Amino acid sequence: MSPSYVSTTTTSTITTASPQTLEIDAIDDAASYVPVISSLSSVYSASALPAQEGRWASLVACFKQFYPAEDLTFIARSPGRVNLIGEHIDYSLFDVLPMAITQDVLIAVHVGDTDGKLVLNNTDPHFPSRTFNVADLKDIEIDATVHEWSNYFLAGVKGAFSLLPSAEIPSMHCVIDGRIPTGAGLSSSSAFVCASLLAIATAVKAAASPSSTTFANAVTKSDLVQSAIVSERHVGVNSGGMDQSASVFGVPGHALRVQFYPQLKASPVAFQSDDFAFVIANTLVVADKHVTGPIHYNLRVVETTVAAEILAKQCGLGPLPIRDGFGGTLRGVVEAFKARGVDMTGVMDKVKQVFSKQEGYTLAETAELLGQSELEITKKYMTRFPVRFERFQFRARALHVLDEARRVEKFCELLAHAPADRSGDDAEEKYLQDLASIMTASHKSCRALFDCSCEELDELVGLAVANGAYGSRLTGAGWGGATVSLVRKDKANDFVQCLKEEYYSKRYPGISEDKMNDAICITEPGLGSAVVVGNYSA
Ligand code: ATP
Ligand code: GLA
Ligand code: MG
Repeated sequence: MSPSYVSTTTTSTITTASPQTLEIDAIDDAASYVPVISSLSSVYSASALPAQEGRWASLVACFKQFYPAEDLTFIARSPGRVNLIGEHIDYSLFDVLPMAITQDVLIAVHVGDTDGKLVLNNTDPHFPSRTFNVADLKDIEIDATVHEWSNYFLAGVKGAFSLLPSAEIPSMHCVIDGRIPTGAGLSSSSAFVCASLLAIATAVKAAASPSSTTFANAVTKSDLVQSAIVSERHVGVNSGGMDQSASVFGVPGHALRVQFYPQLKASPVAFQSDDFAFVIANTLVVADKHVTGPIHYNLRVVETTVAAEILAKQCGLGPLPIRDGFGGTLRGVVEAFKARGVDMTGVMDKVKQVFSKQEGYTLAETAELLGQSELEITKKYMTRFPVRFERFQFRARALHVLDEARRVEKFCELLAHAPADRSGDDAEEKYLQDLASIMTASHKSCRALFDCSCEELDELVGLAVANGAYGSRLTGAGWGGATVSLVRKDKANDFVQCLKEEYYSKRYPGISEDKMNDAICITEPGLGSAVVVGNYSA
């Protein structure tokens, strides 16, 4: 029997400092520093390498155009991720199973003591040039009410100062090249924030040791993840920790089981069969979480958090540990019930009892259940991240979270065993069907209980299953963005072709082959964050 996750990339402990707060202490060793790499063949798989070499060469050329007189000191890189199972449960502190993907954000940096400026240029002309005085960065305010691309870099600045409070950021002249489609559920935002934070920590190190050419040990993976999780919220989205964990801890050829409780931990999960693959298909409906946060993402965080607080109050569980200064979690509720001998099915029954009103709860009804005033509730949960709602859907949201947490457990249990361990001629077929049925159930729950799907996602999921996928589901936040489908490897190319014809050509008549190739791909789990120093080729 093989273990479900074979080794531990990094471990940080979350200690209960008081009944109300969770503190995260990092325990790191030298092995868990973000790697500094000198060859692209250590970053990408052999199949991805040729295209990446061309792309890195273009970035280096673009850097020279922006800054003709300056040396390129290093390139910081952080990838996007695809989540296989465990949607919208990271901020309730339940385990999730994402993997890092090839598509990434690169930040090419010149470090100097020249002009006291942080200059941000982007290879994508949609993101105009921005300049800041480095002397102003320490106290810089991020205006979360505007959707501004450089806010994500400034979130990295905030994270860097929380890690290195006395750091002096040197002049940095940067070119950003992101290849993760934005708002596609593949976490371009966290890749950008992690790459920014990594770029700043590396620049600080480079400025401190100008003669060095390696800049090794600038930041540990664990510190990078934890700072990026907290600092990304400065852009105005109350996000969890899955995306940053996947982006930084990614291990080639493996998914990652990310745990948030009782300690932040990312464990590589090997696939026990070579016969299946995951295909990512982007609906091309952009899900802009910053813009829709008040009615979508941030509202779901409030609904799940307040649901947990109400359950604790109504069931006499006592105060729940608070996640990142925001509120209690459903994981806290499950642990409190577990200590009283109540299992997950029992907790789901309690949810149905406490939240018997299927139509949802007004703020006044919520205040009554919580024993707090409407003003208090608004101040605590809806001020930093404002939301708009008529009724909170506590019952449906909590039931999704608890059942999805069970699906992650079941999926990981299945992955722990090779299909060949099963008996019968159709062992592998049955194995893939079992994995896939968990994915499909997850999509149904996202659609019906968590209400984070959309017409295009549902259509793509339906077409995927009709065209040979064992199972399919939305991935990432939803409300647009991408699906992930489980297919047989030997059928994957045909499957991609079918979706091009059935979805892209029909929904977007005249769409170019290049656009379709960007939108749908057979994915492979890749390496997490890295700093690359050298000649930027294989
Ligand atoms: P999800 O969070 O659902 O996985 P996502 O991270 O792609 O998807 P958002 O969290 O809404 O979506 O973040 C997208 C925003 O991140 C963009 O609107 C843009 O402001 C910023 N961003 C991402 N990549 C880049 C880039 N290469 N250059 C500039 N800004 C970027
Ligand atoms: C976004 C957030 C993550 C997670 C997913 C949904 O990607 O950034 O923290 O909540 O949505 O699973
Ligand atoms: Mg994001």
